[in-house]
Parts: sequence; structure tokens; C-alpha cells
Amino acid sequence: MKSHFRRIGIVMAMGSEAIPVIKKLGLEPMTLKNWRFPIQLFWGNVAGTEIYLATNGQDERYGTEMIGSQSATLTTHYLVEGFTPDLIISAGTAGGLQSRGAQVGDVYLSQGPIRYHDRRYPMAGYHEYGIGNYPSMDASLLGFKLGCISSGDSLHMSTEEAEQFAANEADVKDMEAAAVAWVASWHGISFMAMKAITDLIDHPLKVEKQFIQNFEQAVEKLSDGLWELISQRLPKVAL
Ligand code: ADE
Repeated sequence: MKSHFRRIGIVMAMGSEAIPVIKKLGLEPMTLKNWRFPIQLFWGNVAGTEIYLATNGQDERYGTEMIGSQSATLTTHYLVEGFTPDLIISAGTAGGLQSRGAQVGDVYLSQGPIRYHDRRYPMAGYHEYGIGNYPSMDASLLGFKLGCISSGDSLHMSTEEAEQFAANEADVKDMEAAAVAWVASWHGISFMAMKAITDLIDHPLKVEKQFIQNFEQAVEKLSDGLWELISQRLPKVAL
């Protein structure tokens, strides 16, 4: 059975997060012409749906993966301009709250609007602008764990950011979903995020230690989750 979506764009931050997904979905690399940004692009067909997966690539100054909202915005825009997907998925790893039921290796789909917790503008109207509240598709019938996602550009949170994260009633903390959702909403394209939990942000062990320890397990779960979503769950749900 085919999905209602003809073409799905998947935006991921890190190449290392994407490797098992590329394998699982059977995607092939694509060569990009005239794209000055170092986006890495992969293409394939899963159960009759065209898939375009993009990662941000590496920073030429620092040699690091270009994580965070800045690159996510540009990558999503390129993906939309180049391939006009009718669904965009922000996929990757994330932190979770054990006090709200998260466990390492859980795979979440986004529930409700996607918000930022690190954009603080105390002028009239700008507080809401900072938080964003970008739409995410109703994923309640897709059979995955659902969670409210809040994005910020740092691995750790300041006191103010932690307060906004709590006010956002977030279950999942990432660095890209809000940026990707913002671009999707500009183009009027359906959006959802799928995030696999590498670390529990309310656990005594340092987040970065947990991230490294649990990375492999979480990205395997993420690749299984994306495969299941695209090949099994989306086609069965009337959207
Ligand atoms: N990705 C994985 N863990 C994360 C965290 N704790 N915060 C933001 N992004 C993450």
C-alpha cells in the first residue's frame, strides 16, 4: 500500500545519525549541482514514496558536523526548493525527560506545535515570536510514542532556558525541529519530527556522556522507526 505522500523530505543534522537510516531505507547518494552549501543528499523509493534525505554536512572552518537551527533552516529550504516534498520530517537524536516517561532508545513523533526554549525577546509580541509554535501534523494515529518537542541551539540549558522548556511542556529536547518546522510552515508543507532519545536531561550522568554511550543504540532505533513510519504506518492512515 502506498503512502498518501508522494515525496518525503527527511532533514537530519549529522551524517553519523543518517548512516543507519540511509542503509535501512536503501537510499543512494545524489550529486548536487550549484549548491554552495555542503549538504549531503540521498535518494530512494520506499513502498512507492520518493524519499529525499539531506544532512547538513561539515563546517569548513571547524570540521564538525553542522548541528543546530542555523544549518537546519538552510538545508530544509534547499530540500524544498529542489524537490518539493509534500511531507518534511525532522529526524535525529534528542534528549528526553525521565520525569515525563522518556527512556533511552525511545522513538518519539512530535505532538502539537514545535517550540523554541532559547529565544528570549521581552518586548510586546516578540515573546511569542521567539517561542515559535510551528505546526506539526497530527501523528496520534501512527502508533508511536508522542511527545512535545522544544528546540534550542545548545546541548545544555541555562536556568532561563530550562524555565521556558518547562513552560513549553516539552518531553523532548532537540536542536533542529523548530527550525525545520518553521521552513515547512512558510512553504505550507506538512511537517512532523521523529526523535530517538540518546540522553535523559534530568539524569545525574552528564548529557554528553550519555549521548556518546547511547548514540549507536538510538540511531538504530531511529532507522527502524523511520522505516516503519514510511513503509507501514503512513500508508494505513487516512490523512
Ligand atoms: N540531541 C541529543 N541529545 C540532545 C540534548 N540533550 N539536547 C539537544 N539535542 C540533543
